[in-house]
Amino acid sequence: MSIRLENVNYIYSPDSAFRKQALKDIHLEIRDGEFIGLIGHTGSGKSTLIQHLNGLMKATSGHIYYNEQDIYESSFNLRGLRALVGLVFQYPEHQLFEVTVFKDICFGPKNLGLPQEECEKRAREALNLVGLKEKHWQKSPFELSGGQKRRVAIAGVLAMKPEVLILDEPTAGLDPKGRNDILDQIARLHKEGNMTVILVSHSMEDVARYVDRLIVMNRGSVFMDGTPSEVFKHYVELERIGLAAPQVTYVMHQLAQKGFSVNENATTVEEAKNEILAALGRIQP
Ligand SMILES: Nc1ncnc2c1ncn2[C@@H]1O[C@H](COP(=O)(O)OP(=O)(O)OP(=O)(O)O)[C@@H](O)[C@H]1O
Ligand SMILES: [Mg+2]
Repeated sequence: MSIRLENVNYIYSPDSAFRKQALKDIHLEIRDGEFIGLIGHTGSGKSTLIQHLNGLMKATSGHIYYNEQDIYESSFNLRGLRALVGLVFQYPEHQLFEVTVFKDICFGPKNLGLPQEECEKRAREALNLVGLKEKHWQKSPFELSGGQKRRVAIAGVLAMKPEVLILDEPTAGLDPKGRNDILDQIARLHKEGNMTVILVSHSMEDVARYVDRLIVMNRGSVFMDGTPSEVFKHYVELERIGLAAPQVTYVMHQLAQKGFSVNENATTVEEAKNEILAALGRIQP
């Protein structure tokens, strides 16, 4: 399974004074089972790009292939693609609309034409996966806190059992515990369910901790593509486009400059801790 983009361009309002090219010559391959972080300054094209991956937006030019099938061919089942590639929007809680949380989650599977019993089974599974307690299931979504609503929105997409899960800043506005809970849960789905995950994030710490591959966008183009440590090695270039490396990477660079023998490319606190402890062990008598 893969999603392949070839020469994809997207222009908003092409024939008006507000013309804006949001994607420029994107070439990308997203392979089965990858956990990808998508980063880039505000307005760099992240949300525009991910809406192309499930066919919600159509490229102005270029091709997108899902499992080597051209999604713009007239015979391609675009509706089916939206179930296979689940997209959780930025601030998805604004899209909850059913009378109860439970009904809201059932909506997607119902739309797939599944029998009621299966819809309810999937809704229960998805709600348990995102860790929303059963006492909230029959409440109106509007009675929930921001973090709880976010979980409901994610559960709504999970209930479709997508092959690829795309989340546009799922932790924006959540407290640290809420963020970790949600990201840990997503990491578990990736690991245990072998789900391909694409996480759009402004947090360098989060992407360093969770993803295997980082795609950096700048002004509608792919600026870098590699493992977090490969990408964060280039922190000076990242700073030039309004980004940065995780804070711990800067600490490691400073330690190395002061003569400590540490790997300066550590990107997570855990890696840095191990490097520092090993270096201390080496300099003790
Ligand atoms: N509906 C629209 N009409 C016109 N231009 C748009 C529209 N939506 C986005 N744009 C423009 O396209 C570019 C890319 O926007 P996009 O929302 O994809 O960025 P983003 O990387 O997701 O930003 P953020 O981090 O703020 O969410 C921006 O310059 C934006 O102003
Ligand atoms: Mg966005």
